[in-house]
Amino acid sequence: MNVVVVNNFDRMSEEVAKIMIKQITQKPKSVLGLATGSSPLRVYKLLVEYHNRGADFSGLTTFNLDEYVGLSKEHPQSYRQYMNENFFSHVNIKPENTFVPSGVTEDPEEECRLYEQSIKQAGGIDMQILGIGSNAHIGFNEPGTPFDSITQVVDLSESTIKDNARFFDTIEEVPTKAISMGIKTIMQAKEIVLMANGGSKAKAIYGAVMGRITPEVPASVLQLHPSVTIVVDQAAASKL
Ligand code: F6R
Repeated sequence: MNVVVVNNFDRMSEEVAKIMIKQITQKPKSVLGLATGSSPLRVYKLLVEYHNRGADFSGLTTFNLDEYVGLSKEHPQSYRQYMNENFFSHVNIKPENTFVPSGVTEDPEEECRLYEQSIKQAGGIDMQILGIGSNAHIGFNEPGTPFDSITQVVDLSESTIKDNARFFDTIEEVPTKAISMGIKTIMQAKEIVLMANGGSKAKAIYGAVMGRITPEVPASVLQLHPSVTIVVDQAAASKL
């Protein structure tokens, strides 16, 4: 596990963008696993700037980690909307090669099965980008999720619902379920890059990097992966 400690959010974003650009340059047909939330926002901006300077993203395929159950792709807080607004609609990735689970499918179990199948058909994920929850979740795999889990419907923990309420008008509007890649799905990526900033992530980062490997601290599983880079600002690294 390679831990990179930087000064602040901007430096963290630059470091992660640099790693992704290297991946895209080396393999223009990369399959990328992508995250939403606050952490990667500036990374997407930097990738858009890179595209505006002439970089071609038309060979990429992307798989997002998760989507809220119950939110359609047009819903302003859906992760599909987030990806369109912050990244996809500003670059030349082919829309048909951007995968985000559907939150409004009639058969969520089938949606999960097909999502796993699409990842396999694409040849697996070359580089998975992750944020981390204050409870150390990765994707929406909350504490207690078995390490052998694959894409499935999950219940969001109370702390995640509280953390994500900032994006909604009221806490009651925050969905309580999501479709999330499983821990095993994430661990099958050839390379993993996790980013975190701020003191609210310090305990989770300690658990991910130095804690006991246990499903109670989902990100601790990353210690078992052969190629992980963790990019953190000083506040998130403060317990290391
Ligand atoms: C997002 C995701 C989550 C977030 C995590 C951190 O697709 O899967 O695991 O990465 O909740 O969220 P932020 O970055 O908003 O602190």
